[in-house]
Amino acid sequence: MNMHEQLQQIQQELQDQLRQIQDSGALEALRLKVLGKKGSLTQMLRSMGQLSAEERPAMGQLINKAREDMSARLDEVARRIQEAEKEARLRDEALDVTLPSSGAHQGCMHPISMVIDQVTDVLTGMGFEVVEGPEIELDHYNFELMNIPKNHPSRDAQDTFYFDENMLLRTHTSPVQARIMTTRKPPIRIICPGRVYRADEVDATHSPVFHQMEGLVIDEDVTMADLKGTLDVFAKRLYGEDIRTRFRPSFFPFTEPSAEVDLTCVACHGKGCRVCKGTGWIEVLGSGMVNPKVLEMCGIDSSRYSGFAFGVGMERIAMLRYGITDMRMLYEGDLRFLSQLRAD
Ligand code: DAH
Repeated sequence: MNMHEQLQQIQQELQDQLRQIQDSGALEALRLKVLGKKGSLTQMLRSMGQLSAEERPAMGQLINKAREDMSARLDEVARRIQEAEKEARLRDEALDVTLPSSGAHQGCMHPISMVIDQVTDVLTGMGFEVVEGPEIELDHYNFELMNIPKNHPSRDAQDTFYFDENMLLRTHTSPVQARIMTTRKPPIRIICPGRVYRADEVDATHSPVFHQMEGLVIDEDVTMADLKGTLDVFAKRLYGEDIRTRFRPSFFPFTEPSAEVDLTCVACHGKGCRVCKGTGWIEVLGSGMVNPKVLEMCGIDSSRYSGFAFGVGMERIAMLRYGITDMRMLYEGDLRFLSQLRAD
């Protein structure tokens, strides 16, 4: 086969194959097969050395012309394929924007967070400032400055997790009282929401991790009437105007006198039901007049200043508010339960 025939054959073959090609990968392979470094046309150019000097220029021209020609055909098919591929892609990726959406899942706040927010709202509305203290606390603040010295029997009820002899997970938010009293001068009017820890077994009413809200007011002439009035307004704002408070004598080392505060049962409004065990009252918080000994230990002159304090369990408030009877439900993270309790 002479070179003319060879050239014709290459061109014919290319034409035949181009007709069958559907995708750009195969087209590129074909381009290499003919025009690539080892391609059939390139081989032909190389073999021109065999020709005589007279034949060479004409043959060279022919081959170059064929090269341009074939290259143009390949380019044309490439354009066609690209166009087709683009269309296919657009077809595959077509979105029907008129389809109904699958419905975004809307999250909600955890009931404990909601209650902390609600209680904070009520108390800041009454003039309290929100402060925070560390969860890893010194024995000094958690117990000593709260008038609970080492070996005091009330430490039994607040066993906790110790890092060493002096450092522990706080058992209540009361140490924040001491942190504020030792660093600020009266008047003081603060609340402190936060997580607290105790070495308790988990059951329907206990958890080793729970939440409290501490309140503290120190000023001149603060009396038990201020404590009663404050908690009375607090209860009414939180649960409704028909709610009343009842103070029962109690004991806390850091307050003197101390009182346990009951509210009208929020479930039956005082008639007596299962929640209040028929009494019409439910116990919700501890409170009292700040023990002068605590004031003195914290560097506040007890002959000039007095104050009151209170501590409320947030789980208790959440359970009463949402009619939850088992505290564990608050921690299990079951969305079927949590999503029923939206902010009201
Ligand atoms: N710290 C107490 C507890 O965890 C609660 C408490 C009672 C706080 C009386 C107070 C208070 O500030 O005055 O059981």
